[in-house]
Amino acid sequence: MNVGVVIVGFGSVGRALTVELGNVGSRLGVRVLGALSSRGGVVVRGARDLNALHRLASSGLKLDEHPSFREGMGLGDLLSSTSPNLAFVALPPSYVTGEPNESMFRELVERGVSIVTADKTVLARGFRGFMDYAERRGVYVGFRATVAAGTPFTDLVRGLRGREVAGFRAILNSTTNYILSLVESGMSFREALGRAVREGYAEPDPSVDVDGWDPAAKLAILASVLGRDVGIHNVERVSLRGVDEGGVRSAVREGCRVRYVAEALIDREVFRVAPLKVCGNSQLLRTPSTHNCIEIYVEGGEVITLSGPAGPAWRTAKVMISDMVEYIERRARFRSNL
Ligand SMILES: NC(=O)c1ccc[n+]([C@@H]2O[C@H](COP(=O)([O-])OP(=O)(O)OC[C@H]3O[C@@H](n4cnc5c(N)ncnc54)[C@H](OP(=O)(O)O)[C@@H]3O)[C@@H](O)[C@H]2O)c1
Repeated sequence: MNVGVVIVGFGSVGRALTVELGNVGSRLGVRVLGALSSRGGVVVRGARDLNALHRLASSGLKLDEHPSFREGMGLGDLLSSTSPNLAFVALPPSYVTGEPNESMFRELVERGVSIVTADKTVLARGFRGFMDYAERRGVYVGFRATVAAGTPFTDLVRGLRGREVAGFRAILNSTTNYILSLVESGMSFREALGRAVREGYAEPDPSVDVDGWDPAAKLAILASVLGRDVGIHNVERVSLRGVDEGGVRSAVREGCRVRYVAEALIDREVFRVAPLKVCGNSQLLRTPSTHNCIEIYVEGGEVITLSGPAGPAWRTAKVMISDMVEYIERRARFRSNL
């Protein structure tokens, strides 16, 4: 079976994905037809273009460096030139307005192009509406990479639908976990944030992490998978910037830890991201800074826990390949039923 794919967003994730497709693509019958960045795109017309794309990806270079780069090419041009089955979306998030991400996702669905996304924007702002729309159009949407990429939180939560889930508490952002660990060891929040940016844990504009947008988006997606109509704008965000540094250190002395916790208390309609003191047997207490962790509270107060590595880009790319495998399997099943 031949699957034509395009890569929308050629940053850390888009490049890692291109490398991964180079490793597994031909075995799975997948061909890369093109790629897009903010300033233009590339249509892959033959082996030379494909090799150049792989070279850029493995050397961490921008798409503009490609010899066939066309300045000003937009998503519509790329889709018209390539007619892909599937688009991998690795755009930066845009939680406030949703644009241009929402228009781009709509364009993909309108054209019947299936989607595997690492970008949370559209699902965090309106999960059910978008998934219903895609389903009506017969379009697959894979989103495992949007939450804890590397550890299948969305699969776990999906497996609990129909059960009595009272809620969950989770660490969904490794950057803030790292910053809090540095504060525990004596740094001020400002110093810890500066170090996280210098070491590449946090973006130069770390607001997405420390003001809670990123974990709030992930919380909204997980709660939506559980069947709740929660968007990112329904999630209360308490910024980490005001965290009590003394409180972070004294929590350690008490055998507890302060963590930036995403909390969904479903019956009480509480959806919040905030610094929280975690004590006792909670696995959240022992989550290393590169990991994410979720505790889900089910019938009779029982707790189901999953913890594992999340990100960086290479792991995210692998998770996007898992979604692609699911897409290929569904397509094969659908065809055999025709
Ligand atoms: N990095 C991770 O480990 C990780 C893990 C899970 C999820 N994610 C999510 O994955 C997404 C991508 O992350 P990243 O780290 O790869 O970001 P990134 O390095 O900033 O790359 C973003 C890419 O999108 C391109 N882009 C921006 N606006 C565009 C537009 N309007 N049209 C087409 N392309 C556009 C950029 O173009 P230029 O090259 O021209 O700047 C760049 O190539 C984000 O939503 C992030 O939250 C990332």
